Amino acid sequence: MENIEHKRRIVLVPLPLQGHVTPMMQLGKALTLKGFSITVALGQLNPVSSWQHFPGFQFITITESLPLSEIEALGPVEFLIKNNNTSEASFKDCISQLLTQQGNDIACIIYDDLMYFCEAAAKEFKVPSIIFSTTSATHKACFSVLTKLNPKKFLIDMEDLELQNKLVENLHPLRYKDLPIAGFGPLDRFVELCKEVLNRRTSSAVIVNTVSCLESLSLTRMQQDFGIPVYTLGPLHITAASATYSLLEEDKSCIEWLNKQKPRSVIYISLGSIFDMGTKEVLEMAWGLCDSNQPFLWVIRNGYESLPEEVSKMVSERGYIVKWAPQSEVLAHPAVGGFWSHCGWNSTLESIAEGVPMICRPFNGEQNLNAVYIENVWRIGILLQGEVERGVVERAVKKLIMDDEGVLMRERAIVLKEKLISSVRNGGSSYNALTELVNHLNTD
Ligand code: UDX
Repeated sequence: MENIEHKRRIVLVPLPLQGHVTPMMQLGKALTLKGFSITVALGQLNPVSSWQHFPGFQFITITESLPLSEIEALGPVEFLIKNNNTSEASFKDCISQLLTQQGNDIACIIYDDLMYFCEAAAKEFKVPSIIFSTTSATHKACFSVLTKLNPKKFLIDMEDLELQNKLVENLHPLRYKDLPIAGFGPLDRFVELCKEVLNRRTSSAVIVNTVSCLESLSLTRMQQDFGIPVYTLGPLHITAASATYSLLEEDKSCIEWLNKQKPRSVIYISLGSIFDMGTKEVLEMAWGLCDSNQPFLWVIRNGYESLPEEVSKMVSERGYIVKWAPQSEVLAHPAVGGFWSHCGWNSTLESIAEGVPMICRPFNGEQNLNAVYIENVWRIGILLQGEVERGVVERAVKKLIMDDEGVLMRERAIVLKEKLISSVRNGGSSYNALTELVNHLNTD
């Protein structure tokens, strides 16, 4: 039996939201396979049944961190800035306690780049630290662009259509209007946050959950901005395949339903863990999906009950509704032909890794960037803008699942899938980066 006392400990600090905890736990799993033991320091997030998939992990609580319920009251940017202020002292206590416990030799603190308060504890206790960027390298490259802008002037300039459509230097094909500023609150505060996120302080490296073949230019830019090694380890859900982490209970009955559908016929609809469609949009979506005559699997976390009876009856006859799906398993299922997604970074990587083309319906921030890349760079999806109306839904679904254009998108997605799989195999870019990271951790 392994003696975990002799393993070097890594302290992981995720932002306690599904889309951020998931890749952090996958990173933890990948590091346990390399002989490290893992402590996860969480904010106000109750342990859930998924923790059982991480035997041997230790969980501790950062007691003074802000509860997630504050996001609504404060807005995302103010929440994140305030959370960094309130959590710092409490996290120092966590590290101090861990260091006094016998056998807790901390090799490194690896923290989500939005949890930059961790650096103060790392510095005080002289523990090495590494930043983990759970979103794309292009997202961080955009942060770098934003920090060089004057927020007030930029907002005035952006009233000019020409500037809106101007390409951002070295980030082709992104235009200024694609910069990820929507939905986060006042731009000046967001720019302050970007500066904090890009400040490496005393950290010795950055980890990114991406793949070099997907965004090599942005990675080069990120490397220049940070000036420390950038380890590109993605997609972590393949490297740590069994590390299922879910805040909500997965409804696996949808797999039985998928088993009864024809190959590549089903459109899977999910908008991640945070966003919901408005009632009008749900209704238009329901009609459009039914009119497309394609079977569909639809994740509706909230509000399905309030649909008019005739609509919910029609929807349940033609499709299958769950509150939360085992998404990786769904995307890997041969019956799935397309993914209607809000283009969160995890969903984007999961879809590419299964060669599934997408209909992009981003809500805010970096989801817009991901959508631009899906449609224009990788050319594996359709970006839907404007109002969601039943005819638009019907046409988009048919185009993706049945038209020649959709077939080409799928072919390109399958080429990318092969590249992603190669990257995590022995000798691939992400495989090599993980080896380099482990060497880094062992010599720090
Ligand atoms: C958030 C942000 O919204 C997103 O823009 C950012 O890129 C990451 O953090 P979220 O909106 O939840 O994430 O989206 P996403 O990144 O796609 O993560 C959702 C995760 O939940 C995925 O790993 C997905 O597999 C999982 N999921 C989603 C399920 O397991 N079941 C579901 O039914 C829906």
